[in-house]
This record gives sequence, structure tokens and C-alpha cells, in this order.
Amino acid sequence: MPTRPYVIDEMISAKAIAARIEDLCREIQTEFAGTDKLVVVGLLRGSFVFIADLVRELDLPIEVDFLEASSYGDGMESTREVRILKDLRGAIEGRDVLVVEDIVDTGHTLNHVTHLLESRLPARLKSIALLDKPSRREVDFKANWTGFEIPDEFVVGYGIDFAQRNRNLPYIGKVRFAEK
Ligand code: IMP
Repeated sequence: MPTRPYVIDEMISAKAIAARIEDLCREIQTEFAGTDKLVVVGLLRGSFVFIADLVRELDLPIEVDFLEASSYGDGMESTREVRILKDLRGAIEGRDVLVVEDIVDTGHTLNHVTHLLESRLPARLKSIALLDKPSRREVDFKANWTGFEIPDEFVVGYGIDFAQRNRNLPYIGKVRFAEK
């Protein structure tokens, strides 16, 4: 639970997110056209709303799996050391894989996860992040598709939390601490 009072200012509306997902899905469908072995892998917990909307917009035969990597704990700073807390249920060797992430911030999480999954020899491995904060990058990583580039702000909503709260907001908002 957050310990300081804060307000949330809307940054990206639910409507804008839905429209962007439609565009992204057209590109993803072109990339994976004809495949019948695509596994869409959601990174828990932040991607759960995004992956739900994404897969319902994708007109492809897919399977869905989840992986959980450690990141922020309950704070606002990345721990940098990435650990796998929950691994995939299925094998991905020879499969096409699309990794779905909420935000690429320092880049450590997706960089680590994509290297790990590459070592399992998928036929093709691509990644998508709803949000990207390029100014925060510490490792050279870029997702194949990005929904929106945003400035260095702490955001919540649409699956993304602040100390586990606000995941259920339908839009992306930025956290602003109330004046004392
Ligand atoms: P990275 O490893 O620094 O790229 O961090 C990726 C993870 O940090 C994301 O999957 C989020 O869980 C978390 N994160 C990064 N920025 C924010 C934010 O603004 N709000 C909430 N979580 C964030």
C-alpha cells in the first residue's frame, strides 16, 4: 500500500489505448501471418490488462502463457537484478513467441527475459511493450513494437501499479504527490 498521499492525472485515455492496440495488432498479424504455433507470453503482473485486450484483437490461432519476473517490489525504483518468480508452463522450442510487457523502463527486465527465452530456441521471438520510457534506459534494449513513448514519469493504471494499487484504472495516469 502506498504510504504518501498522491493524485493521478490522466496521461493516456482508454480510447487512445484501444485505438493504438488495433494498429499494433494489424502489424503483429502481418508479422505472424500463417503461423499456427504462436505463444503470447504475458509478463506478470503489469501486462495482464494489456495482454487481455491484445489477444482479443488478434485474429491468429494463439496460445497464452505467463511468466513473472521480479522488478520494483513495492517501491518506485527498479531493483535491476531480475529474478524469475514464475516460469512458463509450456516449452517454446521451435515455437513463435510474442512477449508482452507493460513498460520498458531501465530495460533490465525485458532484456533479461528475452535472453532467457532465446536460450530455449524458439523459431521466432518478438516483444511488445505498451509503454516505453527511453530516457530511463540503462541497457540497450528496444521492443519490436511499442504502444506509446512517455517521459520519465511514474505511471499507473491499465494493469500497472503503484505499490500494488491502481491496476484497475481503465487509463494510464501519472502519479503526482500531493503538496504538504
Ligand atoms: P525495467 O526492468 O526497469 O525496464 O522495468 C520494467 C518494470 O518496472 C515494468 O514491467 C514495471 O513493472 C515496472 N515499472 C517501470 N516503470 C514503472 C512505472 O512508471 N510505474 C509502475 N511500474 C513501473
